[in-house]
Amino acid sequence: MKFIMLGAPGAGKGTRAALMAEHYKIPHISTGDIFRANLKEGTELGLKAKEYMDKGHLVPDELTVELLLDRVGKDDCQDGYILDGFPRTIHQAEVLEQELKKLDDKIDYAIDVHVPDATIEERMGGRRTCTKCSQSYHIVFANTAVEGICDKCGGEVVLRIDDAPETVHKRLEVYHEQTKPLIDFYNERGILKQVDGSGSIQHALAAVIEVVGY
Ligand code: AP5
Ligand code: MG
Repeated sequence: MKFIMLGAPGAGKGTRAALMAEHYKIPHISTGDIFRANLKEGTELGLKAKEYMDKGHLVPDELTVELLLDRVGKDDCQDGYILDGFPRTIHQAEVLEQELKKLDDKIDYAIDVHVPDATIEERMGGRRTCTKCSQSYHIVFANTAVEGICDKCGGEVVLRIDDAPETVHKRLEVYHEQTKPLIDFYNERGILKQVDGSGSIQHALAAVIEVVGY
């Protein structure tokens, strides 16, 4: 099964994708997490991506598309995967579609997690992210058992630089301009499924299982 997670920054794509990865036993691939991991390792890609991410802009396609295509070509993706944060532009969606077509393959579901912008700003202010395994937490809705320490891997849990309120605002603007048109793109292909992202985290996986059927 191949999934794409759509939705605004902070809609809960990553939270939901992590639960789906466990349930469907397929990898969760987040381009944002890949860029942040590169930055942590100090690679050239990470440093270049940071220039854009810190401002809330999209990382250019030249740095993003090849990286993603390379990742989905790995052995662990043979039974499928969950793409979180890719595609983010119509161009990225078209390239992915063409590359899959060459392999006689396609995306099965594009899951659009819908949350009002006001809820997003509240979520981002309280979000904390593990610097090691990228698990998302929230100081009110889903906190770590021990302050600042990841429940899953023991890594350090911090506020992401791009979660500053003015950057969140810019990311939302970029989302509405460049990423939201993907809802129509996948609707036209008959694979769009919309889920309400404003419910509790406990129901996040159930909502996906309901639309997919298992
Ligand atoms: P990326 O890391 O993908 O960030 P994003 O899309 O802005 O999404 P987030 O990770 O911020 O939010 P999310 O939807 O995963 O929400 P989460 O589950 O954490 O990308 C970062 C940057 O990288 C981009 O700005 C861009 O520069 C670059 N980039 C990445 N991919 C790119 C691409 N393809 N092309 C170009 N550039 C690219 O949840 C948010 C918070 O809410 C958490 O605290 C969580 O605990 C809480 N929460 C979640 N669900 C619920 C719920 N149901 N109820 C209450 N709280 C909840
Ligand atoms: Mg995320």
